[in-house]
Amino acid sequence: MKKITIAIDGFSSTGKSTIAKQLAKELEYIYVDTGAMYRAVTLYALRKKYIDADNFSINDLVSDLDNINLKFHYNEALGFAEMYLNGENVEKEIRTLRVSDFVSKVAAVPEVRYQLVKQQQKMGEDKGIVMDGRDIGTVVFPDAELKLFMTASPEKRAIRRYKELIEKGDDVKYEDVLRNVQNRDYIDSHREDSPLRQAEGAIAIDNSDMGLKEQFERILNLANRTI
Ligand code: C5P
Repeated sequence: MKKITIAIDGFSSTGKSTIAKQLAKELEYIYVDTGAMYRAVTLYALRKKYIDADNFSINDLVSDLDNINLKFHYNEALGFAEMYLNGENVEKEIRTLRVSDFVSKVAAVPEVRYQLVKQQQKMGEDKGIVMDGRDIGTVVFPDAELKLFMTASPEKRAIRRYKELIEKGDDVKYEDVLRNVQNRDYIDSHREDSPLRQAEGAIAIDNSDMGLKEQFERILNLANRTI
């Protein structure tokens, strides 16, 4: 069967990765969560103190980019690939609100984007891939056969994210999660390099009032019609 490239973009916490993972499993495709890569670079920058609340030494981060090694390793038990930063499993740490608070600043740095986009394009060379992020249909794979653009209201997305973080044992407030979602939306869609926008030819899906099953069926149907 013909293998295609599926690009899923959209605002934060729209459930892109849940759908993308499910879709990749069903189609026996590779799944790549590009947000995890930007999050891992952010974690590195925080640990190295290149970034904190008042200061961001972009030059220090940029000159250290070659020392950041990112790898995904498939975890059989979990059924998805986890993010490794210089050999360390950072899957948990990259999902904290602390990393979320800084990631959009790091992701706005052109040199960071250049490096990560190159790696992402290499991962998709042989097609048979579902990739989610903010610039997949616009920059990484503008020729993807199927492009989706996921949206939902900020409040719905913040509630979903809040529940996820609480379930993981993070002590967070709903207001802080909502603020983070809104801040990231703003920075991601206003940055100069590869701003978040609906790619040409992308199908928009607003899942504010859509269950997971309904979304999955709709998207799988679109994929099967494209393959
Ligand atoms: O998808 P996730 O919410 O984990 O992404 C975290 C952040 O990484 C986004 O808010 C965005 O700033 C950045 N990102 C990006 N381009 C991508 C994927 C993520 O700029 N392709």
